[in-house]
Amino acid sequence: MDEFDLPRPELKPEVTHNALYPGTFDPITNGHLDIIRRGLSLFDRITIIVALNVSKNPLFNLEERCELIQECFKDFNGRVTVDYTSGLIVDYAVQHNISAIIRGLRAISDFDYEFQLALMNRRLAPSVETVFLMTGFEWIYISSSGIKNAARFQGNVAGLVPAHVEAALKRKFS
Ligand code: COA
Repeated sequence: MDEFDLPRPELKPEVTHNALYPGTFDPITNGHLDIIRRGLSLFDRITIIVALNVSKNPLFNLEERCELIQECFKDFNGRVTVDYTSGLIVDYAVQHNISAIIRGLRAISDFDYEFQLALMNRRLAPSVETVFLMTGFEWIYISSSGIKNAARFQGNVAGLVPAHVEAALKRKFS
């Protein structure tokens, strides 16, 4: 078999592997937490980026969304941090010298959108790779919108979001 002509950089043990996990997070759900947990087995540090999807009109403002995320990672020794951007995700990645973007895949229906997003991001910044992680089976049907819809009509969302997010939803819809 022909050998691939791949660059073989020396492994530097002091190098940390960092990734971004961008999304709207309106609000963060147990499905997102599942992706982050899986991501932590591959990356040393993950920065969750609350970003702008121009076609969404979030229920929680930017500050509220960041706080709800921060509360989830108090005890993670800085391995998971939260930031936001109103610009392009790849610009944030390049500026912070981060070469991986994590996205979760729940079902086949996510694929088309994620494929387009990943290819657009690659076109904008070829040095940044998108890494897809499969969501745990128990979270395959949930979305932030689904949870908000249920909570709006006093549906029980316990077990689908962290307890403090459930409380925040109750406050919004009381
Ligand atoms: N478990 C549960 N739900 C999940 C999930 C998981 N593992 N992964 C995704 N979802 C849900 C989210 O809750 C969200 O639900 P909603 O649509 O009901 O709100 C949906 O899947 C997808 O949302 P999200 O992952 O937050 O992506 P998004 O499409 O809202 O936003 C951005 C994607 C923010 C990353 C993208 O718009 C972006 O990069 N914006 C910045 C500008 C930019 O760089 N654009 C790209 C080049 S044009």
